[in-house]
Amino acid sequence: MPTSTADPIAALFRPFTIGRLTVPNRIVMAPMTRTHSPDGVPGRDVAAYYARRAEHGAGLIITEGTVVDCPASANSPAVPRIFGAAPLAGWARVVDAVRSAGGRIVLQLWHVGTDRKPGDLPNPSVPPVGPSGLSSSGEPVTAPMTQAQIDDVIAAFARGAAEAERLGFDGVELHGAHGYLIDQFF
Ligand SMILES: Cc1cc2nc3c(=O)[nH]c(=O)nc-3n(C[C@H](O)[C@H](O)[C@H](O)COP(=O)(O)O)c2cc1C
Repeated sequence: MPTSTADPIAALFRPFTIGRLTVPNRIVMAPMTRTHSPDGVPGRDVAAYYARRAEHGAGLIITEGTVVDCPASANSPAVPRIFGAAPLAGWARVVDAVRSAGGRIVLQLWHVGTDRKPGDLPNPSVPPVGPSGLSSSGEPVTAPMTQAQIDDVIAAFARGAAEAERLGFDGVELHGAHGYLIDQFF
């Protein structure tokens, strides 16, 4: 007999399937920025942090927003990256740790768009980019993106997704909310 309406607690522990991924319960960890990855490198502490969530039964982990390979994608040097040898090695360690703890993990891909302020690290001389060049409050902060800049960003998201697949992540999530680049297009 289905438990969905009669027993909501049991429903929480029923598996669900997304594409080729089956998640053993409905407990999904939301993506949460931590800025604990100096120079964009998720270290052993980050691997341990995610592995603890898997060990204690999170069905699926969505990582913190992880910036794609564009000079203007980040607004902090401690946000993890999905490009460069050291960040990729760091993410490989995270995936291994979560797998060893029996978990599943999806990487969130991120570009902050005009949420980046001029002078923000890690690339202080790089201006922010955004579809209209306006801040979320409507102030002009930069020139509207050109088609070539848009194409570069799309390619960077695609490279990030390919790296995630190569590293063994169960999928990627595109950060399309909270006023960042994709949301700015919306
Ligand atoms: C500290 C913190 C960092 C967050 N970072 C991200 C992030 O990197 N990516 C994202 O999509 N959402 C981020 N969020 C939003 C959460 O994933 C979530 O959507 C939000 O807390 C609302 O969840 P709720 O509806 O379950 O309360 C963050 C939230 C918090 C509290």
